[in-house]
Amino acid sequence: MSVPAAELVGVSKRFGPVLANDGIDLAVARGEVHAVIGENGAGKSTLMSILYGLHRPDSGHVLRAGERIRLRSPADAIRHGLGMVHQRFRLFPGLTVAENIVIGAEPVSRGRVDRESAHRAVADLSAKYGLRADPAAQVGGLPVGVRQRVEILRALYRQAEVLILDEPTAVLTPAEADRLFEVLRTVAATGVAILLVTHKLTEVLAASDQVTVLRQGRVTGRFATADTSAGELIHAMIGRSLAAPETRRRSRPDGEPALDVRDLTVHDTDGVPRLSGVSFAVRPGEIVGIAGVAGSGQRELLDTVTGLRSPGRTGQVLLDGAPVVQGRDPRVAYVPEDRHGRATAPEMSLAENLLMGEQHRLATRFGLPRKTVRARAEQLTERFAISAASVDVPITALSGGNAQKAVLARELTRESRVIVVEEPTQGVDVGVRERVHALLTAARDQGGAILLQSSELSELRELSDRILVLFEGRLVAEFDADVAEERLGQAMTGVLP
Ligand SMILES: Nc1ncnc2c1ncn2[C@@H]1O[C@H](COP(=O)(O)OP(=O)(O)O)[C@@H](O)[C@H]1O
Ligand SMILES: [Mg+2]
Repeated sequence: MSVPAAELVGVSKRFGPVLANDGIDLAVARGEVHAVIGENGAGKSTLMSILYGLHRPDSGHVLRAGERIRLRSPADAIRHGLGMVHQRFRLFPGLTVAENIVIGAEPVSRGRVDRESAHRAVADLSAKYGLRADPAAQVGGLPVGVRQRVEILRALYRQAEVLILDEPTAVLTPAEADRLFEVLRTVAATGVAILLVTHKLTEVLAASDQVTVLRQGRVTGRFATADTSAGELIHAMIGRSLAAPETRRRSRPDGEPALDVRDLTVHDTDGVPRLSGVSFAVRPGEIVGIAGVAGSGQRELLDTVTGLRSPGRTGQVLLDGAPVVQGRDPRVAYVPEDRHGRATAPEMSLAENLLMGEQHRLATRFGLPRKTVRARAEQLTERFAISAASVDVPITALSGGNAQKAVLARELTRESRVIVVEEPTQGVDVGVRERVHALLTAARDQGGAILLQSSELSELRELSDRILVLFEGRLVAEFDADVAEERLGQAMTGVLP
């Protein structure tokens, strides 16, 4: 093999008790898309941060085109031709696309920033790599997919020869992700080495040439993508094989509904109907899935069921026969899509987040005993396999998958029969996904009445006992979960069965 574009050699990094990287070797060649995969917490971001000069390794070093380099900051990394696209974009919303791309490296003519040549350079780069972005557009108003392109262009403008992308598709729709992969192919074809961090196997198989798998800070597998399989990758990621999906038992309970939704008709502030005459019931012991293309009324429906939104003049939402309480009904357990906004209190610890809403039950007349809080939190942490240095760390210190398990731990152990779950496995890896599914099925089997919304059809079909389809605010179909994906897709897009 010719000299790698970049190489990490024997890299170790410890954060307190956590050995995030443990003697990692990784090499990426020019023109190659190299996927780095692993469960949440495997050490991927740490490794990439070391390569970009954001963290210093405790031991080990970095080679660039065969030369050992010292990286004390991202500025060093950029100087050595390393570029990184961050998961949380670091763009200036008030500036234009072109300004964001050239910032800090502006073309100058007669002592002033040369705006025209900046625009031209950006337009040339966009065209060369098929990264469409209007140089004059203000970044603040752009969709995430475009903002991500701006970040990539910024790295390419600085002549990055190694491009690092940490979970770039987490913020993208599937169509945008496909577009990104095409762009990465084009960029790689010009000789740039690309490191693509992800935990989605389909992306690895679709978009990469080589794969390095990390588990608990170590390399557990190296593969050429063409010679490997999903099964082999999963095994390296989680150290065991996933159980073969058994033929699902479909549950069709016939008791009284725990959740009864009647004739919901909801208009938005412009008077446009968002839900029209929606009625259905969920009984204890079943998972009812809600399918629909984005914006078909799912948001309004779930907000109404959880009491966050009024059911309108004609509508009713009944929990065990009694109307839902407006504001936030404590009888509904709720796992919202927006983990960091609605589901957790970022300024509080893991322990406090695990107990939100349960304070009254645990309080004695002397208040809330710290020991009880800790003991209960530790018990939940263990039972739901939440990995965190301690229950006292801020919830924001947890990885996405662990934060999601914490929200599930809290909500599924509430004594609520009605459980509303949105996108339960968004942004989590296969191991967590499997566990989350098992937890939801167990809650169902213990008599939970679960309303599930997921934009992932395979998830809806795996988990649901039946699936309701929303289209333009109406329930247009109800299917058995074994429905062919094609039929489901037709109903979701208004092509009625
Ligand atoms: N700045 C930090 N301080 C303390 N612990 C950290 C820090 N960054 C990462 N960790 C820990 O190091 C481990 C690896 O994290 P990370 O590299 O983010 O994994 P990944 O990106 O694969 O999900 C995790 O246990 C994480 O909690
Ligand atoms: Mg990460």
